[in-house]
Order: sequence, then structure tokens, then C-alpha cells
Amino acid sequence: MPVSGRRIVPQRLIPLALLTAAAIGCQSTVGTPSPAIGLTAVVSAPPVRADRGMVVSSNFRASQVGREILRAGGNAVDAAVATGFALAVTHPSAGNIGGGGFMVVRFPDGNATAIDFREKAPLSAHARMFLDQAGEYSRAIHHNSHLAVGVPGTVAGFAKAQAAYGKLPWERVVEPAVDLAGEGFVLTRSLAGSMARIVEGYPQYPATVAAFSNGGVPFAAGEVFRQPDLAATLARIMRHGHDGFYRGETARLLAAEMRRGGGMITEADLARYEAKERTPVRGTYRGYDILGMPPPSSGGIAVVQMLNILEGYDLGAMGHNSAEYIHHLTEAMRLAFRDRASLVADMDFVDVPAERLTSKAYAAELRDGIDVARAGASAPSDVELPLPYESQETTHFSVVDADGMAVSVTYTLEQGYGSKIVVPGAGFLLNNEMGDFNANPGLTTVDGLIGTEPNTARPEQRMLSSMTPSILARDGELVAVIGSPGGRTIINSVLQVILNIVEFDMNIQEAVDAKRLHHQWLPDRIRIEAGGVTAQTVRELTDMGHTVVVRGSQGRANSIMIDARTGERLGAPDARAPDSGAAGHN
Ligand code: GLY
Repeated sequence: MPVSGRRIVPQRLIPLALLTAAAIGCQSTVGTPSPAIGLTAVVSAPPVRADRGMVVSSNFRASQVGREILRAGGNAVDAAVATGFALAVTHPSAGNIGGGGFMVVRFPDGNATAIDFREKAPLSAHARMFLDQAGEYSRAIHHNSHLAVGVPGTVAGFAKAQAAYGKLPWERVVEPAVDLAGEGFVLTRSLAGSMARIVEGYPQYPATVAAFSNGGVPFAAGEVFRQPDLAATLARIMRHGHDGFYRGETARLLAAEMRRGGGMITEADLARYEAKERTPVRGTYRGYDILGMPPPSSGGIAVVQMLNILEGYDLGAMGHNSAEYIHHLTEAMRLAFRDRASLVADMDFVDVPAERLTSKAYAAELRDGIDVARAGASAPSDVELPLPYESQETTHFSVVDADGMAVSVTYTLEQGYGSKIVVPGAGFLLNNEMGDFNANPGLTTVDGLIGTEPNTARPEQRMLSSMTPSILARDGELVAVIGSPGGRTIINSVLQVILNIVEFDMNIQEAVDAKRLHHQWLPDRIRIEAGGVTAQTVRELTDMGHTVVVRGSQGRANSIMIDARTGERLGAPDARAPDSGAAGHN
């Protein structure tokens, strides 16, 4: 069953250190990576418990803001929106009002909905906009320019969700973020360090240097960080809601920065932006119900597709992170990522066969192609690509309230600090989400580009995402709220947290802390978190034909689970994010 006090020591792993990372009465613990493969394991602290509600995010102050809203009588949507605005102040690398994302909501009666506030391409976008004057693909244009900025969706999404499903006045849920930006807060070492890197790395954007430094000098840990321009923008949003961002002063400032830097977004683009309410993707796995995000996210479809494939095997008997387990996961990942690349995009523009991709019958067909002892039989990865770096700088947060309403939100600026462009006078960062469109139709290269047609830039199309805010239920009862950052690794991180709960009976903190792995069809590499496997397991995988890379960390899967016996909310901040925190409402 979902919650167990049992400690899981993954097969063949030796427990090592217990490190504590405490924040606001929560603890989260991750084992130390060993210099040698296979000598590390994770020993988790207990999850944070609360009777009524829980907020878990990558910033403990933002989690506290969410809890305040629950205490003030707000529901999970109110708390999620307040947390999201607070993260735009306290977690600027990914929390945002200049980006976009997705929210999945499960109501206490089991009904569910999804809010799509993904960025969209401006009206003048076109498929060849990432080519330079010589007609060559330009990574700089695609990822690091004003042309890389998509029309932001976050404020529209929060306004839509809160108007439809929140309980408190709008002003009440935005106000804490206005206060945090205006009055400031004390910088942690981690945030001061990351802001210093932006200040030193982007002198070409004076508004960015001004926003994140003290007159050009990087802030030190312990100093108070105030953001007056951001406070003024948030105050306009507090007063005017959606229009406080998409019309008037904020829109004027954003469009002016686009004109200055050669970007495409106009005031007309901003005025036309709308968040969309969509029907969540639904799947089942061994008696559990999965709720996920539909396109333009690929996450919900891919997780359900992989779970359907994996349901045909006894994963629990294989042992967590054994060679046999990793092989089966990898073969399912290959198939889902192949279909993701070739078939999934914004459903408002492209016909996505979502029903077939998430059907048990299709999974059975795919399973027939898997060789249980040999790599790659299912979906050969016959184009050799390097494994791209996946930024961890999207962010996920989870909320559950006293009535059992659950909200799962993943939102992003794309890379850390997005485009690194702060809108002068408005104090917020712009995303570089246009980089999530394929570079140019047909352009698949050894440098890592996949040029499949559906996900190419068209006016007002939303770029394909991997963000996978998810909710797990069973027999009509809420079980867990799950999600993660990490680019394409997000999908596989969420898959593994679900499997850790269902197959390995881990409690939620163990499920979050356990080492994760990633394969994305192209390139043909399994990347496993440092310390996640033994040398013997790597040898067994290599003998099956896999290429294995052991390095880094994957995701920050801030999650919540319900104790099926007591009904308590169990918060699991992911200590891979140093400032993460769970705030419980008793
Ligand atoms: N930018 C990360 C994602 O949307 O998947």
C-alpha cells in the first residue's frame, strides 16, 4: 500500500551517509555519491507529516506562503497560485511570471482538470526562424536571443485557475509575493551563488545585472534581496489580474524590450494570450489511476504509455535498479520517446493519436517487440547523438488541502533564468521556451537536433514540453501528487517515483530520494544518477548491449503522498534542490 515505514535499500546497494537538509520543520536526506560506482545508496529521513494540508516546492519560503494561504482558508488552488507567484520572487532561476507551465487539479470527488499555460509562438513565428542569414541553423538564435522568447503564459494560467477553482479573493493570493519582492528576503548561499553567476555572465543585459546585484556587485549569502520593479509588476497583477500582465504598463514594457532586442512578441501577441483548460490524460497501472498533462505536454501520454508497457512485467521481483529492471525501463523509454518525437505536439495544431498511444492494446503490441535480454530491439536508436544537457531549472510544486483537493504544478523559464533577459522597468525574466520547438523541419543532426515535423514553430502554436505534473489515485482516493523539473528527464523521473511507490512500497521520501535513470531513444545512452548502480550492474547492462553513463543528478521531484491509514499529508521535498522545503498545515 502507498505508505510504509519500511526502509528500502535498493538491491545490491550499501547504505552510506545520512546527511540532513532541514528547512522549515522539514527534513530531506540524500545519500552522498560515492567516487566509485555502486558504493552509494540513499537513506531517507521520514517525510514531513501534517493533518490538514501540505505544500512542497523548491523554495521553503514559497512553501510557507502556500501554507499561509491554506491557514487563511484558501484551498489547494489558492495555495498553488500563491506559491507559484512567491517562487517567481524567491526562486528566480525557474519560478516565474515570464514563462509558462501546466497545472493538474484533482478535486475531492475524484473529478479532475488541467490548465495549460504553456508559452506560445508569436504571430510572426515561422518554422525557419532559427536559421541565420546564411540559412544555417543557429543555436544562439534558437536558445539565447530575443527570438527564443515565447509569449508568456504563467499569469494567465494562474488567473484562470484561481478564478475558476480558488476560494479567496485574487488580491489575497498575489499579495504575499508582492510583499516578498518589495520587502525582500535573506539570501541563502545557493541562491546568492546562482545570482552571482548570472550577474557575472550576462553584462550585455544591464536590467538583469541591476535586478540581481547590489549596484553591479553580486549579493552575498545573508544579505537582503529586494526587487522593487518586480514588486511593482506583481502589484499591477494583484490589482488587475490577467490584464495587469497582458495589457497596460507591463505589456508595454515587455513589447518595448522585444523591439529593442529584435524579438517578435508585440502587444497584440500579449493581448491575445489565453490559458486553456484541458482534459487530463488518464491511465491505470496495477489498480492505480494516473492523471497527467495532455499536449502540448508530452509527459502525460509518455508516462501512461510506459506504465502500460511495463505492466506486463513483474518489475517488483526484478529488484530496484537491478540490471533487469533498468533494461525493461530503458526499452519502454525508447518506445515512448520515439513516439513522442514523431507524433506528439500541440493538439490544437497537429492531430496527435493520444488515445492509441495511451491504450493497453498498443502497449501490448510494443511489448511484443521488446527483447527481455537485448538492448534496442524495440526501437533501435540508429542515429548517434550526444546526450544533451538537461537543465534542472524548471520547477515543480505539489499542494494538497484539508478537503483532499490536490494540485500538481510544473512551470518554467526553460533554462535556468530563461533567456537571462529581465524586462527593464518590470523586473521579471523572460523565458527562452522557443528552444523547445524543433530547430528546422527535417534537420536531425549528430549535434543533437531532432527535426520531426509536428513540433515546429507556427504562429500561436505551443512548443512541445516534457513537463509532467501528475496525480496518483486508487479506489477513488488520492494517493500522491508528483512532478519534477529536468527537461526530457522529467518524464522518466515521474515514471520512477510512481514505480517506487507502487512496485517497491517506498514511502514518498524514499521514492523521491531513490536514484533515477534516463533514456530518451536518441542518443542510445542510459544515464544513471551518480551512485545509482553497482559496477556489476553496469557490466550486466553493457553485456546486454546498453551504453551506460553514470553521472550527475536528475530532477527535483517535490511530492506529496497521503497516508492511507491516518489520512495525514506526507511531504517529500527533493534535497537535490538545496532550498527545497515542505510546509505542513495542521
Ligand atoms: N522547458 C522544459 C519543458 O517544457 O519540458
